[in-house]
Amino acid sequence: MCGIIGIAGTQDAAPQLVEALRRLEYRGYDSAGIATLVEGRIERRRSPGKLTQLDRVLQQKPLGGRTGIGHTRWATHGAPTESNAHPHASRRVALVHNGIIENFRELRSALIAKGHHFESETDTEVAVHLVTDLLDQGLAPVEAAREAVRQLTGAYALAMIFAGHEGLVVGARKGSPLAVGYGDVEAYLGSDAFALAPFTHRVAYLDDGDVVVLHGPKVEIFDSAGQPVQRQIRMTTASAGLVDKAGYRHFMAKEIHEQPEVIAHTLAHYLDPSALVVQLREPEVIEVLRHASRLTISACGTAFYAGLIGKYWFERLARLAVEADVASELRYREPVYPAGGVALFISQSGETADTLAALRDAKASGQTTIAVVNVPESSIAREADIVLPTFAGPEIGVASTKAFTCQLSVLAALAIAAGRARGVIEPDREHALVASLLEIPRHIVEFMTQEETVEALGGDLAKARDVLYLGRGVNFPLAMEGALKLKEISYIHAEGYAAGEMKHGPIALIDENVPVIVLAPHDTWFEKTVSNMQETMARGGKVILISDVAGIAAAGEAAYANIPVPAVDPTFAPLLYAVPVQMLAYYMALAKGTDVDQPRNLAKSVTVE
Ligand code: M6R
Repeated sequence: MCGIIGIAGTQDAAPQLVEALRRLEYRGYDSAGIATLVEGRIERRRSPGKLTQLDRVLQQKPLGGRTGIGHTRWATHGAPTESNAHPHASRRVALVHNGIIENFRELRSALIAKGHHFESETDTEVAVHLVTDLLDQGLAPVEAAREAVRQLTGAYALAMIFAGHEGLVVGARKGSPLAVGYGDVEAYLGSDAFALAPFTHRVAYLDDGDVVVLHGPKVEIFDSAGQPVQRQIRMTTASAGLVDKAGYRHFMAKEIHEQPEVIAHTLAHYLDPSALVVQLREPEVIEVLRHASRLTISACGTAFYAGLIGKYWFERLARLAVEADVASELRYREPVYPAGGVALFISQSGETADTLAALRDAKASGQTTIAVVNVPESSIAREADIVLPTFAGPEIGVASTKAFTCQLSVLAALAIAAGRARGVIEPDREHALVASLLEIPRHIVEFMTQEETVEALGGDLAKARDVLYLGRGVNFPLAMEGALKLKEISYIHAEGYAAGEMKHGPIALIDENVPVIVLAPHDTWFEKTVSNMQETMARGGKVILISDVAGIAAAGEAAYANIPVPAVDPTFAPLLYAVPVQMLAYYMALAKGTDVDQPRNLAKSVTVE
C-alpha cells in the first residue's frame, strides 16, 4: 500500500526521502516519486516501477532542496504511470496521499468548472487543485490545507509542501496511518515508524482528523475541531538498520527460515517452560475469556486463516462458542453481538482498514476487544482493549509466513489459558499441551532438512495451472492458507477445501494435471482423509501427501510424492505443517520466476477497503 514520507530538513532532502521510501518498499508499490523546494520552487521527480528506476531518474536529473515529500504508490485510481505517480503538484503546492478520496468526482467537476486542468487519473490530484484554489483565494498554506481536508471524504493520509515556504510540511490523517518524527533540528512525517527510524526514534501517531504542521523542527498538531493537541511521543523500537535478506535470495525465504526462532520467542512471552503452564503477562485476558459468552474472531487474508484455526482450538480446548468471519464482511453484515461477548482481531501490520473498522464496530457494540498484532504501535494495537503481541519482527515479504505462525502461537497459548480458566482443561492436560507447543520450533528445524525435496517438487509442480489443497479439522484452514500462499506469489490458481467436501463438487476438477496437496497428520481422522486421497487418485489426480512417518507408511505407495514432517501433537499440527506449505509455494514461484517478495497487484499493508 502507498507509503508517505515528509521532511522539514536542514540537509539535502532527496537522499533521505529515497532512503525512507526504500524502507516502505515492503508495503508494495508500483511507482514512486519525490518533490522538494528548490529556491522556493516545487520540483519533482517521478517514475513508474521500482525505486531503482527513480534512482536512475535522479542520477540523470538530480534534485536539491531541504524540504520535501516522497511517495511509493500502489495504484488504485489509474495505472502505475509517471503521470499518475505522486507527488502531484501545481505551481503552489505538492502533495502525496495514501488512501482513497471518495468524493473526488464531485470535487473534480466543481474544480474543472472553475478552470482547473487535471493531468492524472488519480483521486489524489483533486486535493492539489483544492488546496491551490484555496491558496488562490488568499488563504495561508496551513489554513488552505485544513480547509481542503475538511472538504475531503474517505480515508487518507496526506503530506504537502508549499512553494515559497521553506521548512513547512503539513500532514493530515483520516483513516490511513501517519506518524510524526521528532528530530533535534528537523521534523518528519512517515507512514510508519520504520520509515522514520534512520532519522529519529521519537515518534507520535496522529489520531483520525488530526492535522500536523512541521515548521523545521517545530511540530504543531490540531485535532478534528481545530484545537491544538499533544499526541503521546513514544520511543519506537523500529530498527534504523535496513532489514536485509541475510544471504537469502528473498525476504520470504529468510522469513520462512526465521520461524523456529520467532515462534520460540513468541511462545516464551506466553508460556512458562519450567512449570509447563501458560503464563499470560496480560492477566486481564483470563477473566475476560472465563466469562465470555461468545468469541468473535475476525481478520483478513492469512491472519483470518490463523483465526479460523484458532476457532477450532477455542472450541475444542475451552468449549467456547466461536464465530469467525473476514473483517470486510463482519464490518458490514450487521452481526448480532451478544452481551458479555469478546471480539478478537488478528493483524500483522495492525493497520488493515477492514480489520480496524470491524474492531471499532465490535467495540461500539459492547464487545471487549483483543488484538493479536505484530506492530505494537499500530492503530489496531492502540485501539484494542487488550493487546497480545506477536514477536515475528519486521515481515517484509508480501506473503505472510512467520507472522502467521506467530499468530498461531499466541492463539494456541490463549486457547489453553481459556480452557484452564473455564475449567475444561485439567493441569495435566495443560502441561502436555504446553510441552507439545514448546516442541514445535525444534520440529520445524528438523523439517528444514527436507528443503531440497520440497525444492525439487516445487520445480516439478510449477507447470500446473490449478492446484487443490485438502485438510480436515485444524488443517482445513491451513489448506486454504496454502492455496492463498501459492496463488499470491506464483499466480497459479489454487483452492483449499475441507477433505470431506471433495466429492460434493471439487472432485470434478481432478485429472492428471491437477496436483492435490493433502495435509494429513496421522491423527484420528487420518483414515477418512486417506479415503479422500484414494478418490482423487482413482481419477488420475497427483496426490502430494504432507504427513509424518506413520501417516506416509499407512497411506502406502500410492501418492505421487510425499513430504515427510516430524510427528507432532495433531492439535498443533498447523504450526508445523505451515512450513512445508509455505516452502512449496516459494519453490513453485521461484521455478516460475515471479517476483516472490513483491508479487504483482499486492500490497503488504492494506490500509484501504
Ligand atoms: O497486516 P494484516 O495481517 O492485517 O494483513 C492481512 C492480509 O492482508 C494479509 O495476511 C495478506 O492476506 C497476505 N498477503 C497473505 O500472505
